[in-house]
Amino acid sequence: MGAKHLNTIPTKNAKLIKWVEEWADLMKPEGIYWCDGSEEEYQTLMNKMIDSGVAKKLNPEKRPNSVLFRSDPSDVARVENNTYIASEKEEDAGPTNNWIDPAALKETMRGLYDGCMKGRTLYMIPFSMGPVGSNISKIGMELTDSEYVVCNMHIMTRVGTKVLEVLGDDGEFIPAIHSVGKPLAEGESDNGIWPCAPIEKKYISHFPETREIWSHGSGYGGNALLGKKCLALRIASVAARDEGWLAEHMLILKLTNPEGAVKYVCGAFPSACGKTNLAMLVPTIPGWKVETIGDDIAWMKFGKDGRLYAINPEAGFFGVAPGTSDDSNPSAMRSVDKDTIFTNVALTEDNDVWWEDMGRPAPGKLIDWKGNEWIPGESDTKAAHPNSRFTAKAGNCPVIAPEWEDPAGVPIDAILFGGRRPSTIPLVHQAKDWTHGVFMGSIVGSEVTAAALDLKAGTVRRDPFAMLPFCGYHMGDYFAHWLKIGTKSDADKLPKIFYVNWFRKSEEGKWLWPGFGDNSRVLKWVFERCAGKVEAVDAPIGFMPKAEDIDVSGLDVSAEDMAELLSVDVKGWINELDSIKEHYARFGDKLPQELTDQLAILEDRLKKA
Ligand code: GTP
Ligand code: SPV
Ligand code: MN
Repeated sequence: MGAKHLNTIPTKNAKLIKWVEEWADLMKPEGIYWCDGSEEEYQTLMNKMIDSGVAKKLNPEKRPNSVLFRSDPSDVARVENNTYIASEKEEDAGPTNNWIDPAALKETMRGLYDGCMKGRTLYMIPFSMGPVGSNISKIGMELTDSEYVVCNMHIMTRVGTKVLEVLGDDGEFIPAIHSVGKPLAEGESDNGIWPCAPIEKKYISHFPETREIWSHGSGYGGNALLGKKCLALRIASVAARDEGWLAEHMLILKLTNPEGAVKYVCGAFPSACGKTNLAMLVPTIPGWKVETIGDDIAWMKFGKDGRLYAINPEAGFFGVAPGTSDDSNPSAMRSVDKDTIFTNVALTEDNDVWWEDMGRPAPGKLIDWKGNEWIPGESDTKAAHPNSRFTAKAGNCPVIAPEWEDPAGVPIDAILFGGRRPSTIPLVHQAKDWTHGVFMGSIVGSEVTAAALDLKAGTVRRDPFAMLPFCGYHMGDYFAHWLKIGTKSDADKLPKIFYVNWFRKSEEGKWLWPGFGDNSRVLKWVFERCAGKVEAVDAPIGFMPKAEDIDVSGLDVSAEDMAELLSVDVKGWINELDSIKEHYARFGDKLPQELTDQLAILEDRLKKA
């Protein structure tokens, strides 16, 4: 019985084969196809989507080997309200996650999965997060009915036969089940329309104890490419807690000074708050260089020398398109010159792509992300969805660091926290020590962006460690885990911790800080603090730069604005205290005492200031 295998089963792993066949029995696809990860496979599946009209082939002279997809308007971003941490006990999911009893959730979802792949192929994707065969890497198996997911996984992860070889006959894997939730009737086809299920049938579910991922109803980004947020953050954060390491929503960059000395920096900023941009930054100060290790996720483990080493578990970028230009991020622009999947950007008349703030006016009439005609100067909607994205190979990034795939990782010197804060938070301040740094991470706040479908963009919310939507367990326990990590090594071997804010605005609503390449001026101070080359001011909120230590040569920012960016807004911070207390109250007795103490110290220092 059951669906037939469309190609030779490339493994003898009995557990894996049984798992796939059992799911096929429930989901009832036309057949099972085992992905080998080859270029030929990518092209075959992409051509199938181009032929069916779901994908649009872009002009090969302008954008070789690249395509455009338009998703359904209900399926344009992560859906936080439909994302679940189904731990055995509700208290283990904590107040910041949606919880459903795992048995009940599985029953509901089995109902949705019953027959969900009718008329489609079940693709079995063996993938590795991290270099294949590295002992830090984790193997996942995603089964999906979406060719879009297969092609994106080819770029974002390491896929195929080589992963099965490492898995062997009895290796362990993280099972990840995905369906777009749109079965086809006899003779029916997608007819060029993005397949997905309505919002009430979208479920992005995680079972932390059994390390399982079940996703239904969405084909978009982190909802469907299950190696990314689901495995590498939500499930990995649970494994990291149990095993003494860190799985974080962080970019990783390599910073080289004019003398050739290197520091490695991680940065946790909430979704659509500048990780990709910082990871690929082109410094505006002469002699400095930034190279990319990763732009979204970092896994950090202690090395034998007591330092924290980070790897990027991904192999590509799923980056925000709007705002990406030759000015803001030339390296991202070069990364998407070819071999790229675009989703929900606008199409030009000569079959190239366009988005808002691309640094050039729309070259004429466009087709917008909804498939409608869009006329420059006339249409008052956005041509590209604010969360439209590109999927590009890390290897196509001109500033990818040579060591980006080193299985040993890179030793981290500094960790930055940040978010979109139009007021109060200065351009940069540094934690006094690890515990103070954990306090800083725990209070990260940001204006909400378009990266989540169901939130109101623009309002400030607390997004501790930029992990609010990605932590697979109780956030209070997560804070405790970070504190514990700080006791595992000597203070001078731990990364220094900083809080940055590129998003301060004037009363008229203008950016006070130019951002992008000019953020190198802040990285320079971070570098010099790590190198012990520069003194800092002992301010009530932490260490702050002396005005003369931020390199402003050639910078077009007034002295008044610089002073505002680098000062402590005591009144603003005192208001901040109330909001931090409210935030902390959510965690009840799971909030570590150390953090309550840090808050008291901050309050005391501010009131004396
Ligand atoms: P995810 O992929 O969602 O996790 O996001 P990300 O953190 O990688 O965000 P990304 O770098 O793609 O930034 C998204 C938005 O932030 C874009 O619209 C950028 O233009 C804007 N941005 C990035 N850096 C800066 C900056 O230094 N200043 C200002 N004003 N905007 C910035
Ligand atoms: C984010 O929202 O932080 C992303 C995009 O990086 S997604 O992969 O869709 O979650
Ligand atoms: Mn992200």
